[in-house]
Amino acid sequence: MDSNKIRKKFLDFFQERGHAVVSSSSLVPDDPSVLLTTAGMQQFKPYYVGKADPMRDFGSKNTASAQKCFRTSDIDAVGDETHLTFFEMLGNFSFGLPGQGGYFKKETIRWAYEFIVNELGVSRDRLTVTIFAGDSDIPEDKESYNIWHKEIGLPESRIKKHGRQDNFWGPTGNEGPCGPTTEIYIDGVEIWNLVFNEYYKNPDKTLRKLANPGVDTGMGLERLAVMLQGTGNVFETDLFHPLVSKLRENVPPVFRAATTELQKARSFAEQKFLERGVGEPRRRNEATPVPTEMQAEHERVLRVLADHLRASVFLIADGVRPSNKEAGYILRRLLRRILAYGITYDIHADLFPMAVDFVEDNYGDWYLEVKKTKEILEVLSEEKTKFEKALTLGVKEIEKYDSIAAKDAFYIYETFGLPWELLRELAPAKVKDLDQKAWEEELKKHQEISRAGLEKKFGGHGLILDTGELKASTPEEVEIVTRLHTATHLLQAALRKVLGPEVKQMGSDITAERTRFDFSFNRKLTNEEVTRVEDLVNEAIQKDLPVSYQELPIEEAKKTKALYFFKEKYPEQVKVYSMGEFSKEFCGGPHVTNTLKVGKLKITKQEAVGAGVRRIRAVVSQN
Ligand code: SER
Repeated sequence: MDSNKIRKKFLDFFQERGHAVVSSSSLVPDDPSVLLTTAGMQQFKPYYVGKADPMRDFGSKNTASAQKCFRTSDIDAVGDETHLTFFEMLGNFSFGLPGQGGYFKKETIRWAYEFIVNELGVSRDRLTVTIFAGDSDIPEDKESYNIWHKEIGLPESRIKKHGRQDNFWGPTGNEGPCGPTTEIYIDGVEIWNLVFNEYYKNPDKTLRKLANPGVDTGMGLERLAVMLQGTGNVFETDLFHPLVSKLRENVPPVFRAATTELQKARSFAEQKFLERGVGEPRRRNEATPVPTEMQAEHERVLRVLADHLRASVFLIADGVRPSNKEAGYILRRLLRRILAYGITYDIHADLFPMAVDFVEDNYGDWYLEVKKTKEILEVLSEEKTKFEKALTLGVKEIEKYDSIAAKDAFYIYETFGLPWELLRELAPAKVKDLDQKAWEEELKKHQEISRAGLEKKFGGHGLILDTGELKASTPEEVEIVTRLHTATHLLQAALRKVLGPEVKQMGSDITAERTRFDFSFNRKLTNEEVTRVEDLVNEAIQKDLPVSYQELPIEEAKKTKALYFFKEKYPEQVKVYSMGEFSKEFCGGPHVTNTLKVGKLKITKQEAVGAGVRRIRAVVSQN
């Protein structure tokens, strides 16, 4: 049975039983406690707790959906026959009590059984189920046991009982509906998870009983397809097959070359691999048999590529953009791994258009957003270009180390934008002692430092914001952010010269695209004032003033008449940055050495952001 038919059958079945069919929600959830959508129930969280009304929104207390999901938990296991990042989940849901338009255990279990046996034609002898065994806080789910055993007639030997670990689900994020589950297995493989949301987990981890228990079921479409198509391997089902066969034509079987990945990366980088991406795909010389372990490695590579390509297209279609934080970082990891494989495994073809076409052809009827192929391709090629630039410099850096420790890995990441996963691909020998934990600790340490506002304390505009967000990921970005940082000091000084000393910094934010500066002032600037400010800054730039700093005890620093951010608490010692006589400010840096390096400043926008606070955005271009 093909997957389009499985999806349709599922949704029709529940529609016939009074469910409203609801479209998949975006992979980017409304719920701020989770980065990405990991389950079908996520878009329905408010309905379980009475914060939203299903009758008003769906005309029914019961819904069914095919939901796009993404889980990072298995990211490192991708490459075998089953693990995936992106997958689809079929689910039916109820937010009401039996007799009040909703249903509970009896109907849930009965319908699930009927769907599998009658609609999918799976013999009941292949089924086993599990139920919640109960523990000190929550009683055993006897009701589900009785439905399976007495009403449906499954023998006792086919009903297993498990504890919290296996038969209690949820919540997604740090709070939400959750409850005991009963799971259905076909031939020993878990297919369907039926959750009875009887509880709400509070952020402090305590459970409270929900006023209205609900139903949340989830069945992985991919697993079901493996079962029904008898492939034994998700990548051979129709959900992947067209892509995998395309990849097979373009990814050479892996030959263990004498050169290391790093050397390959270097030559790749040196040839500025944009130019070389056009060659004919290398084809296997049929006369040379590929040893078995290489065949296995080849299969693994094809699967990783297929999973990551499909997932990336879906993430981008839902608006995720590669970045250094949160969902954007997950996407960047997927894409950089694909690109790194391009080097390691000598892939000449551009896999991105293949992936975009595949997803459009195979999923476009269900998920209309994947039809924005032009936009999706643009995001992909932009990330490719960024990666290529970062790699050129990063590889040279990696070559300097015999062994890369967590803090080196972090430096390489921060400066060249190469995440540790990529180091692992490029220089496995150098990072063999670097484990994920050490890396994560380094990242966390760094985030804590920046969260503590260290950068902010020094004047409010740094490379790293207190959210832990890295503002620059490639050397080019570091350079432009640094120029914009110096420009921001000049801008503040010029604003004070034009508008008066009541102008005080209220905040700032710098990205590789622009600087954003908030200051106290209670009206719109006239066009003349804007031009005057720009001119003053650009004159100061043209004078090529030296940028220097003095490190002083805080009290002495305050006596220098340097500007500082009044709202901040400063440490004992602070740096006072001067740009000739034009500007003097407390700051942690970094800055360019001479103002000429800033380029030319242009104010692009001004707006009000609150009573008495104005915001200006400005960009710099090369002189
Ligand atoms: N929320 C449950 C799961 O994700 C059932 O849908 O498994």
